Amino acid sequence: MADRLIDVARQALARAHAPYSGFRVGAALEAADGRIFSGCNVENASYGLTVCAERVAVVTAIAAGATEFRRLLIMTEAGPPAAPCGACRQVLAEFGTDLQIESRSGMEERRWSLGELLPDAFRLDGPRRGSE
Ligand code: THU
Repeated sequence: MADRLIDVARQALARAHAPYSGFRVGAALEAADGRIFSGCNVENASYGLTVCAERVAVVTAIAAGATEFRRLLIMTEAGPPAAPCGACRQVLAEFGTDLQIESRSGMEERRWSLGELLPDAFRLDGPRRGSE
């Protein structure tokens, strides 16, 4: 993923709000239509309200009308390259598990598909309350 995704993730990382953990994360999510959406982690004094970089990116993308995604690049300052947390995996899986994920930290990188990281993602199949 040596391309614009790296620059976008790096810029997002610089905007991280991580005064409590000091662990800054940037994410760049490429939609099927070519648009790239960024996210950074946004921590809160009430720690549990913290939002991860990956979820900021996907929520931003959905709000902008993107629905299909090809690649996600995660960037951190400190190694080893971070895998997305479980909550982010589930949120991303809502939009498909073919997503290619790369995580970079300095010169190190790791790659997975979302399906590898989250086999058997929860899906709400069957009739929904209020849909009939
Ligand atoms: N974090 C992310 O942004 N993405 C992840 O996948 C894992 C963790 C953030 C949340 C928190 O601000 C900091 O990293 C330490 O957990």
